[in-house]
Amino acid sequence: MSRTVLITGAAGRIGSALVKYLDSHDAPRYAPRDAPRYALRLADLEVAGERGVALDVTDLSACRKACEGIDTVVHLAAVASPDAPFDEILPVNISGTYNVFRAASDAGVRRVVFASSAQAIEGYPLDVQVSSGMPVRPKNIYGVSKAFGEALAAHFAYQQGLEAVAVRIGAFEYPHEWKRMGARDLSAWVSPEDLCALLVRCIEADLGKEPFAIAHGISDNRFKRLDLTDTRARLGYAPTADAFAVWQVGLCDTSEPVG
Ligand SMILES: NC(=O)c1ccc[n+]([C@@H]2O[C@H](COP(=O)([O-])OP(=O)(O)OC[C@H]3O[C@@H](n4cnc5c(N)ncnc54)[C@H](O)[C@@H]3O)[C@@H](O)[C@H]2O)c1
Repeated sequence: MSRTVLITGAAGRIGSALVKYLDSHDAPRYAPRDAPRYALRLADLEVAGERGVALDVTDLSACRKACEGIDTVVHLAAVASPDAPFDEILPVNISGTYNVFRAASDAGVRRVVFASSAQAIEGYPLDVQVSSGMPVRPKNIYGVSKAFGEALAAHFAYQQGLEAVAVRIGAFEYPHEWKRMGARDLSAWVSPEDLCALLVRCIEADLGKEPFAIAHGISDNRFKRLDLTDTRARLGYAPTADAFAVWQVGLCDTSEPVG
């Protein structure tokens, strides 16, 4: 079945990667041949291309118009900086995210996939692996806004019948662009291919009796900041990349006898 999918923030880094992934059926190294074909509505502050629509998510009536006839919303639009002050976060990440859920619910959209962030739990000590059932612990106001979005997603799912998946995206980076990596970044890394594949699973997966899910958006890193057990089981996520292999972090195998 072909779905009509609205992507907010479609011109951003992740939005651009997702559109390329979904459009790349002829490039199997980038997107699997069986990746679904969607009718895309690409929303951002400025219109780009024939599928583009101008949308400022701070405008509820514009959100309502953008959601007309939509099956799934992938809500990526945000002030995406962990350092952003509250006055920048408030209109876009708080009011704007509410507007998107309100408009989607009123328009009869089936599901919203919300771009949350690992920043929603980044207040846990770095030696703690966070599972999806643990309470949020944001380290900054940006992370607080993502925790708000997760709560909003759960509210609309359980109280208003709008299915929702909140994806805690880790460190989305292209290996050739990344100059400086700490242990935390490696353990929270998500490759563009793994994240795009996960977003497709978030659109497609049967959520069963529970209309809300939290997905952990990191790759199959040797050490993981976020536990992937639930995400694999509920959403059928099968990541393939490992930051510790990509960046050739030397990990000797002591299970083998020395020379
Ligand atoms: N990049 C990462 O590592 C990462 C990690 C965790 C979560 N996320 C989340 O994923 C989403 C996408 O991130 P990104 O890296 O592509 O960010 P980005 O900054 O590259 O893209 C965000 C997009 O949102 C648009 N936007 C901003 N304000 C808007 C408004 N008022 N109305 C409509 N559009 C607006 C911008 O024009 C931009 O194209 C964000 O919600 C971000 O918080 C990103």
